[in-house]
Amino acid sequence: MTNSVEFYDRMLSLGLARVSEAAAMASARLVGRGDEKAADQAAVNAMREQLNMLDIQGVVVIGEGERDEAPMLYIGEEVGTGNGPAVDIALDPLEGTTLTAKDMPNALTVIAMAPRQTLLHAPDVYMDKLAIGPGYPKDVISLEMAPAERVKRLAKARGCEDRDITVCILERPRHEDLIAEVRSTGAAIRLITDGDVAGVIHCAEAERTGIDMYMGSGGAPEGVLAAAALKCMGGQMWGRLLFRNGDEKARAAKAGIEDLDRIYARDDMVTQDVIFAATGVTDGSILSGIKREPGYLETETILMRSKTGSVRRMIYRNPR
Ligand code: FBP
Repeated sequence: MTNSVEFYDRMLSLGLARVSEAAAMASARLVGRGDEKAADQAAVNAMREQLNMLDIQGVVVIGEGERDEAPMLYIGEEVGTGNGPAVDIALDPLEGTTLTAKDMPNALTVIAMAPRQTLLHAPDVYMDKLAIGPGYPKDVISLEMAPAERVKRLAKARGCEDRDITVCILERPRHEDLIAEVRSTGAAIRLITDGDVAGVIHCAEAERTGIDMYMGSGGAPEGVLAAAALKCMGGQMWGRLLFRNGDEKARAAKAGIEDLDRIYARDDMVTQDVIFAATGVTDGSILSGIKREPGYLETETILMRSKTGSVRRMIYRNPR
């Protein structure tokens, strides 16, 4: 007999795909228009509307910001119909607002759902991130290792030369030393201008994307979303929160974080099974972007469940 909880979970996952699809469709007309704020707002509105149709008692734990700075989908906002399971929601209605405004690769809409109190309530600060795909021994590399050492260890584990490793890094002045050190090993670097959720996911499909490892600092909320994706796809990830001032430390305290130096492994950020959905907004190496054709819009969504390890890619065509 079908287990009803399992059945419900499967149905909910499809609902989650509709949520990320809706956000992507709403931002479609703003791709390449140079208006980041309008694109983000359209995605937020659509995501919220769809999310509130799901039979869940949801609480946004990774969202658009604190209540006073985000009128919608703020951290702590209750979402869903109020019927159904109590869940944590992590979302980024438009991951890569600048990528969208400039029509550059890998802008996504992203959402993850897990049982209540099982996703890290990361404050909006930076996180030092490190990720690799599946198939490597546990803890083959670590955040404590120097970047060059990570390349060497990974190459050894993969049975290749250092120069055969490709590392993905956000192109930022703060990463100058990191980039120089990785280059000193002979490894290749794929520099990205934005979008480190996609950056991390690349590692889980190395044969498709050509990226073996992700390194560097980016948003902590994006770190939790990336950890949710890797929990579904396989792969290891570590993150350490970075604080630039007392205000950021206070944000962490408010989020209930006591040990400011803690290194979180993937499963410390996402402690139970999670459902993850992302839809392509602009073309990228993981997902195709929205296609605007006469008479219809088409989106591609990736929907994954860590419980089963299922990875589903769905094409949705919608008349317009
Ligand atoms: P937005 O979608 O909010 O513009 O964020 C894009 C992003 O590139 C994230 O993927 C990344 O984690 C963060 O910004 C990096 O922050 P910064 O631009 O401050 O280096």
